[in-house]
Amino acid sequence: MLDRVREALSRVNDPEIRRPITELGMVAAVEETAPGQVRIEVLLTVAGCPMKDTLRRDVTAAATAVDGVDAVQVDLGVMSDQQRAGLRDQLKGGQADREIPFAKPDSLTTVIAVASGKGGVGKSSVTVNLATALIRLGRTVGILDADIYGHSIPAMLGIADARPTAVEDMIMPVPTNGLKAISIGMLKPSRDQVVAWRGPILDRALTQMLADVYWGDLDFLLLDLPPGTGDVAISLGQKLPNAEVIVVTTPQQAAAEVAERAGTMASMMNQRVIGVIENMAYLEVVCPDCGHTHKVEVFGSGGGQDVATKLSNRLGYPVPLLGQVPLDPTLRAGGDDGVPVTSSDDSPAGAALTAIAEELAGRGRGLAGRQLGLSPIGR
Ligand SMILES: Nc1ncnc2c1ncn2[C@@H]1O[C@H](COP(=O)(O)OP(=O)(O)OP(=O)(O)O)[C@@H](O)[C@H]1O
Ligand SMILES: [Mg+2]
Ligand SMILES: [Zn+2]
Repeated sequence: MLDRVREALSRVNDPEIRRPITELGMVAAVEETAPGQVRIEVLLTVAGCPMKDTLRRDVTAAATAVDGVDAVQVDLGVMSDQQRAGLRDQLKGGQADREIPFAKPDSLTTVIAVASGKGGVGKSSVTVNLATALIRLGRTVGILDADIYGHSIPAMLGIADARPTAVEDMIMPVPTNGLKAISIGMLKPSRDQVVAWRGPILDRALTQMLADVYWGDLDFLLLDLPPGTGDVAISLGQKLPNAEVIVVTTPQQAAAEVAERAGTMASMMNQRVIGVIENMAYLEVVCPDCGHTHKVEVFGSGGGQDVATKLSNRLGYPVPLLGQVPLDPTLRAGGDDGVPVTSSDDSPAGAALTAIAEELAGRGRGLAGRQLGLSPIGR
């Protein structure tokens, strides 16, 4: 029976590391204390691990389901320094300190930076919703919130108060809705502390988020960049030469011009711009006169296509308009509630973003630089 319990535990993943607890050396003891009574000792990576309730629940559920087990007692201990160091080495898997796995030429992770020229165009919303849609398509996804001005990603994912766990010098990204996220805001010692994210401090924080965070095997890493063409873009450009860029814009011409600057900047950093997303493209309203749905172009029209065309001319390769995302109150509400609209099927903005995610997923794993087989959308 104990063998079957151990076997069941090999299907319990650590919620942060997402590997079986049996492989991670977290199961210290499995014993039968009385007929049908099983005691399991689980070693947490750190005391006060934020996921310990989840672990206890998962371990209890797995063991209870085993034939012949009547009662399960789970004792939580903590790894010794030595055990933790061993785990760290295991996770690093030969990766040198401060090495960025995504920058290696043989990396299979598609890194996409979501950029814009201007604030408030929906970059963070697009990032979170593309990530969620990619998860639903069966991909493994990480989100790195590198926006030094805001940190809206955690709230949009419902993890505003989460803090990452550190195992030795490795940081565990915060698991949520099947994806992993880390925000530059989480690296601040305290929330209200104002840190000047500039120069070497900024560079160190970005390196930390890329090299010291245990991302595991990712199909996609999405980066939410601060608006404009600042320090962060330059720093990330140097660290992630294979990253690709998606430019988000609104239909307004002024936004379009700035978005174009962001794209040009990306190409200066040798990052390929793979497309433009026009957000807040239109509002669908049911007409009181005819009862049909009309598209009201609240912020004008043509901005996204215009940016795509200008970028194509400027960069010398086709930069498609990947899609138009309508204005949609459910998208805003989903952001406020921490439940991305792409996690369910029935919103106009969610549908548009899911369609874009399908195109991204269809490019295949590890084919960075391959062109999207998309033609510009005319409307
Ligand atoms: N298509 C949309 N429909 C309705 N509301 C939207 C849409 N896109 C974004 N919003 C809302 O607009 C606001 C700004 O969006 P978001 O925070 O994603 O933009 P941002 O470009 O990341 O902004 P910042 O520059 O501040 O980081 C949010 O309240 C968001 O919910
Ligand atoms: Mg943002
Ligand atoms: Zn009408």
